[in-house]
Amino acid sequence: MQILETIASCRSARRESSRIAFVPTMGNLHEGHIALMHEARKHADTVIASIFVNRLQFGQGEDFGRYPRTFAADCEKLEAAGVDLLFAPDEAVMYPEPQHYFVEPAPAQVSILEGEFRPGHFAGVATVVLKLFSIVQPDVAVFGKKDFQQLMVISNMVREFALPIEIIRGDTVRAEDGLALSSRNGYLSDAERAEAPTLYGELVAIRDAVRAGDHDFLHLETMAIERLRERGWQPDYIAVRRQADLQPPVSERDPLVVLAAAKLGTTRLIDNLEI
Ligand code: PAJ
Repeated sequence: MQILETIASCRSARRESSRIAFVPTMGNLHEGHIALMHEARKHADTVIASIFVNRLQFGQGEDFGRYPRTFAADCEKLEAAGVDLLFAPDEAVMYPEPQHYFVEPAPAQVSILEGEFRPGHFAGVATVVLKLFSIVQPDVAVFGKKDFQQLMVISNMVREFALPIEIIRGDTVRAEDGLALSSRNGYLSDAERAEAPTLYGELVAIRDAVRAGDHDFLHLETMAIERLRERGWQPDYIAVRRQADLQPPVSERDPLVVLAAAKLGTTRLIDNLEI
């Protein structure tokens, strides 16, 4: 696997490849990321991953400074997964001057759910992803459903700017006990790690109830939030939404997803499940 650190080296590698699939990450890679690399391989001859911890998408007081950086181990995993090229710029390459131009996603998409609790987060994500797209110029890019709202923001950006990139959605990879894999799981103490799958359990309970015909979403959401609180969690939201735009459901026929974010100790976990 070749490691590229500059925009120029990335562009010249791009010229030598025919069809490129791209998987952007912030590193500290786990099986969820690696599954996206394998998915990418199905769509192109050349797979490019990136590792860049993007300061712009972290809010004040969030974990930018202590976000786990495990570059050597990440490279081994990417190599083993057959990734061809890794774009690993440092901050001076991505942001040689302060970034003044931002992609501002539609307020209806970013004032809700993650956007409500992490103001500016999706502008930071959309901005870095547009910049990475412009550097790598992929034909296909793969993102995980684990970050369901991020996937929606990026898909809409690609459509509205008519970017010639196909967005592929990768399923969420979970530990055996159901906990969605996440770089942030490493922050959990042993006791918290044992408790963490409860969040997934609540999503499963809501999914099963809705599938069985219970459409009192507010009641289902409130009960789940209450149960989590009793177990020591601080839930930000649990919400049944339409898959298409993450707005509250109106028709019985809308494909739905249940999304959740909650803090366990100081660690904020997010997860979702399609219904
Ligand atoms: P990061 O959190 O490193 O995630 C990189 C990609 O891996 C994202 O598409 C995310 O949805 C996916 N992913 C994370 N956990 C997963 C799991 N358990 N199963 C499947 N896919 C999973 O998301 C980001 O980085 C950043 O916001 C980024 C898009 C790179 C922009 O900075």
